[in-house]
Amino acid sequence: GLGIGSVLRDTQTVTYDPGFMNTANARSAITYIDGEAGILRYRGYPIEDLAKNSSFLEVAYLLIYGELPTGDQLTEWDENIRDHTMLHEDIKDFFNGFPRNAHPMAVLSSAVSALSTFYADSLDPFDEEQVHISTIRLMSKVPVLAAYAYKKSIGQPLLYPDNSLNLTENFLRLTFGVPTEAYELDQDVVDALDMLLILHADHEQNCSTSTVRLVGSSHANIFGSISAGINALFGPLHGGANEAVLNMLDEIRDEGTSPEDFMEKVKNKESGVRLMGFGHRVYKNYDPRARIVKGTAEKILNKLGAGDERLEIAMRLEEKALNDDYFVERKLYPNVDFYTGLIYSAMGFPPRMFTPLFALGRLPGWVAQYREMIDDKETRIGRPRQVYVGQDLRRY
Ligand code: ACO
Repeated sequence: GLGIGSVLRDTQTVTYDPGFMNTANARSAITYIDGEAGILRYRGYPIEDLAKNSSFLEVAYLLIYGELPTGDQLTEWDENIRDHTMLHEDIKDFFNGFPRNAHPMAVLSSAVSALSTFYADSLDPFDEEQVHISTIRLMSKVPVLAAYAYKKSIGQPLLYPDNSLNLTENFLRLTFGVPTEAYELDQDVVDALDMLLILHADHEQNCSTSTVRLVGSSHANIFGSISAGINALFGPLHGGANEAVLNMLDEIRDEGTSPEDFMEKVKNKESGVRLMGFGHRVYKNYDPRARIVKGTAEKILNKLGAGDERLEIAMRLEEKALNDDYFVERKLYPNVDFYTGLIYSAMGFPPRMFTPLFALGRLPGWVAQYREMIDDKETRIGRPRQVYVGQDLRRY
């Protein structure tokens, strides 16, 4: 077989590196990760400090513009985003065309791609003003589209955004509100969701972000590039994991499997069962985000979902894994998604909305990385090489 390394083919040497385990595709000043030590920083600020003290909007600004905003800059950013929440009415017709049981991630990626048809005036990646307005449009409209994708899936009417609310509040109201009643925000839920969005806001060159960069490297517009990123995030090994974790916990609960028996199944490779929410390409230590999420899960579940047996199951699975040679040897620890699904579930989100929530959080990271890629003079069109293993010349 072909190992990782250099393979000489014809007169060129190419590096065979499946999964890009050792290939850097970008130089980036946005996010720093030390996977061995379990460190994550946005623009130099530790994730723990941002999760504790900042807001999602402030972190989005930091990621995209490189510095924390001043008070005035933050107000302007927030107001700008509130001002652009309205969608063209025709976008709603677009929603009507999808089947009722469409997965909200599929709807969201299509809708974000469709934004490029409605906002053809802001597609030039090299025009500063256009990049600015498309940044605001994405930040304002993606939460609305995500909420609408949900409303569509449950057959409820779409509400108009309420611009007296900020991004996170508006999203909650558009998701859970109904036209006949005033929606009351629960501040603990707003704060917890805002914090979870911060934790998901960037993670350097993960699968979806690399996808945004690769698509954008052809100078494709930002809406189409981010739509591609949303599709990458949809996969169960990436953003789909939080949904998979909850399904796994449901199954263990409903079938009455003991965590011990489940772990045996996971360790038996032939079963093909993985402990979802465990393991990470980069973290070979406890994912620093998972630590923060675990604390919030306990707090929110105590308030909203007291007695959720699944938290108990998750904690027992974690305890088993951390003391099991299989997991220790492979350096498998809980990742950010191990506990997020439980919180989302307590907040009232069905599992199908978990990945759209991840997309909402990751949005500023995608925007920041797209913009950094475009601004970097060394960027070239992404075009990996291959090692050809097919037939030699044959005659037809
Ligand atoms: N359960 C059981 N075994 C696992 C798990 C798991 N969750 N994750 C990895 N392993 C094992 C593999 O079987 C492999 O064992 P081997 O060396 O005996 O063959 C070893 O650990 C290394 O795993 P790889 O799949 O090679 O690691 P990779 O870096 O390619 O994959 C990934 C990382 C995809 C996250 C993997 O750990 C996984 O599938 N986890 C479950 C899904 C998940 O939680 N994804 C979320 C990722 S985080 C995010 O997107 C926010």
